[in-house]
Amino acid sequence: MGVRVVCCLLFAGLLTACGGGDAPADKGKADAKPILLKFSHVVAENTPKGKMAIRFKELVEKRLAGRVKVEVYPNSQLFGDNNVLEAMLLGDVQLAAPALSKFENYSPALQLFDLPFLFRDMQAVDRFQGGPAGRALLGSLSSKGLVGLGYLHNGMKQLSANQPLRVPSDANGKKFRIMTSDVLAAQFEAVDAVPLKKPFSEVFTLLQTKAIDGQENTWSNIYSKKFYEVQEYITESNHGVLDYLVVSSAAFWNGLPDDVRDGLAGALDEAIAYGNQVALDKAVEDKKAIADSGRSTIIELTDDERAQWVEAMKPVWMQFEKIVGKDNIEAAVAANKR
Ligand code: SIN
Repeated sequence: MGVRVVCCLLFAGLLTACGGGDAPADKGKADAKPILLKFSHVVAENTPKGKMAIRFKELVEKRLAGRVKVEVYPNSQLFGDNNVLEAMLLGDVQLAAPALSKFENYSPALQLFDLPFLFRDMQAVDRFQGGPAGRALLGSLSSKGLVGLGYLHNGMKQLSANQPLRVPSDANGKKFRIMTSDVLAAQFEAVDAVPLKKPFSEVFTLLQTKAIDGQENTWSNIYSKKFYEVQEYITESNHGVLDYLVVSSAAFWNGLPDDVRDGLAGALDEAIAYGNQVALDKAVEDKKAIADSGRSTIIELTDDERAQWVEAMKPVWMQFEKIVGKDNIEAAVAANKR
């Protein structure tokens, strides 16, 4: 969905959330210094989000030259996902795109996206996000002083471990790093594994030192952060989706001069479309690069093995139905039909 549409939908609700923070003080002044927009994220530059952020910076600095300056901080250099939203509300960072799984304290309903085996593929995710239920969820942060500006794809998640995971019982007793989502915790508990909520920046070391046994992530993150070098097996489970919500604070976004906000929204729409294409390409390229490296064995599940994972994990849907919304689950399931 377009950023401009989202902004219109949210504007009324967001006005109430604009009391403090980092509204540009130079609104309307012709001779003002450029507005500084810091974009903080946790992944490498050569990833869908990393490339999207760079494209956004290029577009903005071309179209709003002298009016807006964008600084991109990748690899958790500025903030990690555990503190970026707090920092945003304090005005220390203006743009971020945390994984949808990291909003549980801000909009528990966004954990819908974490339900295991909810979406068949990224096309279904696209259909859902572009539909009424997806658009409503995009606006679910307004009471928290944040503006959801658009969804951005990474891709479907795979399971990695230091032992082969073919059937759910292979995960019994194993420790898996997860993002900060209770749905993801329940997903691993459903196969009698031990979930541990840890920041992305710590995952490589936790795997390397064998403090944990495995993790779940996309091909792009597994490749760019070299998890495949410290995990002997990757199961191509496609059991969930890892997508992002591009966010700003309402105070900053609504305090911008109208033409600047429009320019940023247009640049963001274009950068997101580009990032989504990168996501599709990288899911194929990075899987191949991992396979070619010979460092990690990729396990393809048979239909029967996959059905066992679905059967074990799907009860999580019922467990979280009240939090994520029955209607939202139904809309997501409907989006699987082409
Ligand atoms: C990200 O892709 O931004 C990080 C995902 C994770 O924490 O696993």
